[in-house]
Amino acid sequence: MLETNEKIWLNGVIEKIATKMDWVSEKSRNKIPYTTINGTHDDRSIDNPSGNKTDGINWWTNGFWGGMMWLMYHETGNEKYKEIANISEAGLDQCFQDYYGLHHDVGFMWLPTSVANYKVTKNAESRKRALHAANLLAGRFNLAGGFIRAWNDVGDKDTRGWAIIDCMFNIPLLYWASEETGDPRFKQIAMKHADTSMSAFVRPDGSVNHIVEFDPFNGGVVKTYGGQGYEEGSSWTRGQTWALYGFMMSYIHTGKEEYLNTAKRVAHYFMANIPDSGVIPVDFRQPREPRREDDTAAAIAACGLLEIAKAVGPYEKDSYIKAALKLLKTLDESRSDWSRDNDCILQNGSGAYYAKSHHHPIIYGDYYFMEAIFKLKGNDLYLW
Ligand code: GLY
Repeated sequence: MLETNEKIWLNGVIEKIATKMDWVSEKSRNKIPYTTINGTHDDRSIDNPSGNKTDGINWWTNGFWGGMMWLMYHETGNEKYKEIANISEAGLDQCFQDYYGLHHDVGFMWLPTSVANYKVTKNAESRKRALHAANLLAGRFNLAGGFIRAWNDVGDKDTRGWAIIDCMFNIPLLYWASEETGDPRFKQIAMKHADTSMSAFVRPDGSVNHIVEFDPFNGGVVKTYGGQGYEEGSSWTRGQTWALYGFMMSYIHTGKEEYLNTAKRVAHYFMANIPDSGVIPVDFRQPREPRREDDTAAAIAACGLLEIAKAVGPYEKDSYIKAALKLLKTLDESRSDWSRDNDCILQNGSGAYYAKSHHHPIIYGDYYFMEAIFKLKGNDLYLW
């Protein structure tokens, strides 16, 4: 599959990941990081920068540090990674108590922590946590519109009818719950949400909307929003990748061909828009200036492209692998800090086009970069 020089490059990156994770994991052993401040991981188990309920311990990215530890445990067998993953998983129990800070991102939070733990160790407590989270997610399903409600109301903003493309990454928690319990309800909800997303979010050219507002009583589409992208009708790159890999996951869990074809359509649009530099902008339809880039989108896309490559025939797979390699080599060669100066690997994430700051580390950038690299090696732990 890979040429000799590509294998040499891949082994080198795996070695760099192993070296970095060895010391970072010790340094941040008791933390749940989101980004770095002056090079050092912050800690969302304590910090709450906005003071809102959804930040702090309820912050949607709080599963990724645990996920990174499970990837490392799978790769090395070193018990310390399992111990650190357990610390962050237990820290999330507070969220069940808080309840009000949780929304649809319970998938992002408990798939790479409790589901991962259960898959690897059969820990009964982890199974219970993951089923609890799956029930919270299923409870957000809107029957009239066939969608899972994304967020809770923000200030006086009524979001009862809002669904977002990112939820394609939360619904694997529902597929897992059905596979685990034999109860089809979770999978039925997940597939209904995926079907609605195919028709309401994915545009004919393969680009996707970030937010779609439905009438929460009658179910019809009310309007779309640009969300974290440049504007309505634009193409927020991380949203493209939530769709690209997200539909692929729905295909993996259900075998429904339409999901594979949708993942491919989004992937073809994404690949056609990768710049020669291999650096992914925040939005494919943003103005040329100011320069705004998002490495996290590149890492997530690489994971999705490599999963598509596994599902298609020998003549098709090369183009997906080639595109993933271009993204990953760019990340390694010009977007990473492999030194001890920064606790994160990727340095140029962007939360949103209109975020206050850009080009800073974001924990899921590192998670997906590692997942993609281990996938390329053929030793990934599939956590979704
Ligand atoms: N799921 C929110 C984001 O991608 O920023």
